[in-house]
Amino acid sequence: MSRRAALAAVLALTTGVTLAGCSTDSGEPELKVVGAFMPQPVSDMAAGFLVVQNSGSTADRLTSVTSPLSDDVTIHETKNRQMREVESFEVPAGGELDLERGGNHIMFMKLKKQPQQGEKVSVELHFEKADPITVDLPVKETTHNPKKQ
Ligand code: CU
Repeated sequence: MSRRAALAAVLALTTGVTLAGCSTDSGEPELKVVGAFMPQPVSDMAAGFLVVQNSGSTADRLTSVTSPLSDDVTIHETKNRQMREVESFEVPAGGELDLERGGNHIMFMKLKKQPQQGEKVSVELHFEKADPITVDLPVKETTHNPKKQ
């Protein structure tokens, strides 16, 4: 099979899968972001935390995050106290994706400026299915942890 034919076959396949998925899905993901914050950074790196709630009947995935604060924003999981970049996080249907201290988080490298407590950092969350969501992360004290209050 030529390269072109192979590509066409792949395209037909993926398109078919997408269409089949659409016709059988009972709904779209319905996403809402709550509890967002950024601990005040102490270096040129920062972390962001938030919860994505999905009240829809279709699962989605958080695939990337962008922000004016940094051109190098990635999503990380923490396993055995080590963090590791991941491709995406699932946002389960009727469930939520938790990005929280000690666990999954948004990672900002090479900050363009160091945000101070009381300021806000804008981020845009990109999903596999749902439209992007823009949310402001209020900058909290460095040790802030809502679960420990
Ligand atoms: Cu990290």
